Amino acid sequence: MINLKQQAAIAALSYAKKHRVIGIGTGSTVEFFIDQLATIKSQIDMVVSSSERSTLKLKQLGFLVVDLNYVGTLPIYIDGADEIDVHKRMIKGGGGALTKEKILATASKEFICMVDTSKQVDVLGKFPVAVEVLPLARGLVARELLKMGGDPVWREHFITDSGNLILDVHNLDLTDPLAIEMKIKQLPGVVENGIFAKRRADVVICASEQGVQILC
Ligand code: 5RP
Repeated sequence: MINLKQQAAIAALSYAKKHRVIGIGTGSTVEFFIDQLATIKSQIDMVVSSSERSTLKLKQLGFLVVDLNYVGTLPIYIDGADEIDVHKRMIKGGGGALTKEKILATASKEFICMVDTSKQVDVLGKFPVAVEVLPLARGLVARELLKMGGDPVWREHFITDSGNLILDVHNLDLTDPLAIEMKIKQLPGVVENGIFAKRRADVVICASEQGVQILC
């Protein structure tokens, strides 16, 4: 039986078909999408990947995976999300790949986000905000996040693809997600955070039991 993540991934394929270079996100929904992309592999020249996890699967399937610097910009970036609101602002980073995901999303003309209805929220923030930090700044950043009203939890035994740590911040007030995204970004030692309010999705593919909805 096809689950909702698979349904969203199948619907995303029609967007990929228009391009020969594609930016690829990270996560279980993206893995379904990569399986879909494999069905049109001969039409894809190269892909840019947001994580070692996605790169491994892409290479196993025979895709040419290149560095973002090689292509400069991307016509399209396809990824999932942990939460998304009506303004297409997201929380991402459940898989810990938020930094490269935000870079690829920012470098892309179009950002297609694949979700199911369980990811849609009125106000972001039930899902914790992942903050990637340099290892030596873990304590400093955690204390600053506490002052901002958050409850940071160190994601132990997890190292990002760039060799850094993740703090998962619970209970942040995200009624103004852009303001918090920018505030966290300014803390010394922070590499990136998982609030995608500055670079929102352009198209949301949302799968539900009733079918797939496209929100532009
Ligand atoms: C990874 C992400 C993913 O897009 C997010 O965690 C959703 O994952 P899944 O498709 O497995 O539900 O941001 O860093």
